[in-house]
This record gives sequence, C-alpha cells and structure tokens, in this order.
Amino acid sequence: MRLAALLVTALACAAEPRPVRPDEVPASIRREGWLAEIHRATAQRLRDGEWDHIVYYALQSQRFTSLPVIEPARSAKAFHDSGAMPEDAARRLDAFHRAKPQGERHERMRRMVASLEQLRAEYERAMRFLYEKEWASRARQGADRRDFIATLYQTRGHSTDTELRATYGVHTGLSTLAAMTPAPKIRRVLLIGPGLDWSPRTGLREDTPPQTYQPYVLADSLLRLGLAAPGDLRVDCADINPRVVEHIAAFARSQRRLTLDYARGDGDWNAYFDALGATAGKRAGNTFTVDRAVAGRVTAQRMNILTERLEAAYDLAVATNVLLYFDDKELGLAMANIAHSLKPGGYLLHNDLRPAVESWARELPLPVVHARTVRLDPERPLFDGVVVQRK
Ligand SMILES: C[S@@+](CC[C@H](N)C(=O)[O-])C[C@H]1O[C@@H](n2cnc3c(N)ncnc32)[C@H](O)[C@@H]1O
Repeated sequence: MRLAALLVTALACAAEPRPVRPDEVPASIRREGWLAEIHRATAQRLRDGEWDHIVYYALQSQRFTSLPVIEPARSAKAFHDSGAMPEDAARRLDAFHRAKPQGERHERMRRMVASLEQLRAEYERAMRFLYEKEWASRARQGADRRDFIATLYQTRGHSTDTELRATYGVHTGLSTLAAMTPAPKIRRVLLIGPGLDWSPRTGLREDTPPQTYQPYVLADSLLRLGLAAPGDLRVDCADINPRVVEHIAAFARSQRRLTLDYARGDGDWNAYFDALGATAGKRAGNTFTVDRAVAGRVTAQRMNILTERLEAAYDLAVATNVLLYFDDKELGLAMANIAHSLKPGGYLLHNDLRPAVESWARELPLPVVHARTVRLDPERPLFDGVVVQRK
C-alpha cells in the first residue's frame, strides 16, 4: 500500500526546472544580463498575449452580446486608416465590459479587466500589431514577407491557441521513428508549450469548452504506433502560462473528454483522424474520452524553456508552434536546454524549418535526422513543418 502511494507520488512529480546558469548558454551567444532580459521580456509577452486573447474575444464572442461579430484584422485596418477606434469595436468592448460574465473564458478574462479605459488601450496595442502582420506585410513579397512576419512573431505576445490539426505533423514525425529498425522505446516525454484553445485571432468557436489536445493525442500516437507501452508512458508538460498548466492539471479529475473537430482530407489524413483516440481512450463519434490511466500520467508545470532547464533524461521532447516565437539566438538557447534534458539518443520533434535550426543542430550538436512538410488543410495550400533531431 505504502509502495503504491510512493509510486503515485513519484509519478505525479516531474523534475523541478532550475535556472540556466550563464556558463550553460552556448558560447557563441553568451552575453551578460541576457537571461535576465529574456525573463523580463517573457513576462511582458505573456501579459500581452493574455490581453490579445481578451481583445479577440471581445470582438468575436456571441455569448455576451448580439452585436455583429468583428473580424479582428478588419478592425485593425479600420483603426489604422481612421486613426481612431471604430464605433463598432467601441460598442463591443463596452458590451464585454458591462455584461455579466458567462463561461470559463469570459469569467477568467473579465477578472483581468480593471476598467474600460484599460481594455480600450489594449485594443489599440493589439490592433497596431495586427495591422503590421496582416496589412503592412502585404507591401512585401515572397521570402521578404515571410521574414517580416517571422520577425514580428519573435516579439509578439504569447498566444496559447492550439488546433487539433497541428497534431498531424507530430504523428507524421513519430511515424518515421516507428519505421526505424529497431524503433526507439519512448517512456518519458517532455511536451513544451502544449497550449490551450482560448481565443484565436479568427474563427473563435464557443460550442466546446477550452481544450488542450496535444498531451493526450501525443500519447495516443505513441501507443498507436507501438513506440510506447500503456502503463509505461509519462508525458511531462512545461508551459510559461499558468492557465495552461492549471487546465492540464485539472483534466485528469474531469470527465476527460475532448471534442475532435476536423475536415476530411486524403487517405492518410482520414486514417489518422478517424482512428485518433481509440488507443489512449475511447472514441465515439467526434468525442475522445481519454483513459483515466493515460490522463493520470500527464503532468504539467510552469517552466520557461529559454531560462530554465530540467535535470532529466527524456526519450522524446516535442515543441510545436513554440519555437517560432523565438529569434535565432533564443532558438539556440531553447535547443541547448532541451538537449540537456534528453537522454543520449533521445529525440526532439518540432515544426520549425528555418535555416538557423540546421546551424544549431550542428553546433550543439543535435543533428537533424528527418525534415519534411505535411499539408494541413485539404482545401487550401497550408503546410506544416516536421523536423526530428537526435541527441
Ligand atoms: C501557440 S501555442 C502552441 C500550442 C501547441 N503546441 C500547438 O502546436 O498547437 C504556444 C504555447 O507555448 C507556450 N510557450 C511560449 N513560450 C514558451 C517558453 N519560453 N517556455 C515554455 N512555454 C512557452 C505558450 O504559453 C503556449 O501555450
């Protein structure tokens, strides 16, 4: 009995993150005071990201008002062109502020808003960024435009948004591991930035409560591909955002249900999504009920992958739609911290295809063993990267 209790306690606790020491920063990018600067910038970006979500919610939600939905990028253009807050946006911000909050999103967001003036000031900040990204960027073409947007991402607020279809690239990357002879055995996984679908810039949907897919869908993929065995797999999530960490920590005590929403695509795509959830739980229609045991082996804690690292020996680390928020130097720092927490031969799977990945892969070393793109939208030419590196 006592042994069982000890085992459960050991399982519940991932290694504690500890601050990166200056001498652990790769020599080519070491600079006095840099870690402290990143620490401060991350706090600011976390705050800005939370406010971006609030502004997008206030413009799009149909929960608290019958006023027409406003597409945030259009509002950004109207704000920029007129130099003043558009009337329709002002009415929506006012309605958001006055309404009695209903539902998890609105209640939590409303607690952050001290006054209507504050909300209006955050609207203006959020719209200035959005104008640059969605409209000013159009003055550029091709690679120049992509570089301009990539640079904007490296200082913008941290969004937690996540989509189910982002899991397809991870499954594709894991399939290449499963095809190796011998295939690796995955027991401990570090999942960096699992996210929580909260309030996206476009297409806010409120017919499902906020959801985090990645830890459970990742477990499903690993079990389904035979890379991990039930009862022997643990997924430790690390995220800077306490909202994400709290959500994952509470999930195992909930009904453990995820609503899956995906469009039809080609054969491989349909095979992946149609069977998703049947190995790490039960699948009925578009509901995936995660096994109690699987959910109980997912932990979550606050951690900044740029300024902290774990003394651990993970078989696999996964970070999708996280590294794009870092500039090339920060990318090297994140990769050095991740590499430190992998066991020799362990893998890093992510979706960042920029050239700096290859340079850091050589310098650390954490060589790239597989890289490709996958199509993410059956209708539109929208692609995701898949990169696998090995320590
Ligand atoms: C855009 S979401 C991506 C969610 C999910 N991985 C996906 O692909 O859909 C980025 C997540 O990374 C987290 N994040 C950003 N910077 C981070 C950092 N330095 N350390 C840990 N987590 C970070 C954010 O809080 C957020 O939850």
